[in-house]
Amino acid sequence: MSLLDKIDKENVPQHVAIIMDGNGRWAKSKGLDRTEGHKEGAVSVRKVAEAAARARVKFLTLYAFSTENWLRPQEEVNMLMELMVHTIAKETENLIKNGIRVQAIGDLQRLPKKTKSALLQCIEQTSSGKNLTLVVALSYSSRWELANAAKAIAVGVKNGVLDENSITEETISEYLATKDMPELDLLIRTGGEIRISNFLLWQAAYAELYFTDTFWPDFDEKCLYEAILDFQKKERRFGKTSEQLEKENQ
Ligand code: IPE
Ligand code: IPE
Ligand code: MG
Repeated sequence: MSLLDKIDKENVPQHVAIIMDGNGRWAKSKGLDRTEGHKEGAVSVRKVAEAAARARVKFLTLYAFSTENWLRPQEEVNMLMELMVHTIAKETENLIKNGIRVQAIGDLQRLPKKTKSALLQCIEQTSSGKNLTLVVALSYSSRWELANAAKAIAVGVKNGVLDENSITEETISEYLATKDMPELDLLIRTGGEIRISNFLLWQAAYAELYFTDTFWPDFDEKCLYEAILDFQKKERRFGKTSEQLEKENQ
């Protein structure tokens, strides 16, 4: 029985997010330049996205470049922005063929023109994909997103569109970049670090967390399915007791 067959298709996480970490260390461990790690990481993106679609995951959000990553050496930033253009050009046809719709979250204004227009074109060309939505988090950080939401809500109150007394958790969710996406069910981080690095802080409130030492370029279909199988072993209580859940499921 393959790992894919072992996955209970009735309990697949609808929304999986991945902090794709470890490209640099993967390259170093092989005596290669960091660049090679990023290139190999792009190959993993394709494999994992297609694997997610096969498992019937509906949303896959990939942390590709954080707000803090702008602080990296300029040559590495330039290389990553170029790699994005190249990968999009190479993969768009394949994404369409696999019914994968691309979306993006993050401060896209900060991207170089070429990267931004390649991305917007890919979003447009893949927009009718029905199997999986692949959300690329680019120039994204959760605090940036929350600060933006606070600003937009303040403007709404000032203009009388919003009443401060009716602001709820749902209002905040509505003002986030993820507003049209299902709740985050499973958050995976590769590369061995046990931290969130400013990713989906609000959305991860009740996500199951999965950390693996595997470097992102080595993370493949099998690794994704292992994470999903681990998720399926969890009892998601959302504050309730096991006994309450048992009764509800009777
Ligand atoms: C993740 O790999 C990719 C990006 C952040 C763009 P890293 O480049 O962070 O790899 P390590 O953590 O140095 O190994
Ligand atoms: C997190 O990885 C960001 C992405 C995967 C895009 P980093 O490698 O930048 O995280 P830190 O800085 O080590 O926490
Ligand atoms: Mg890293």
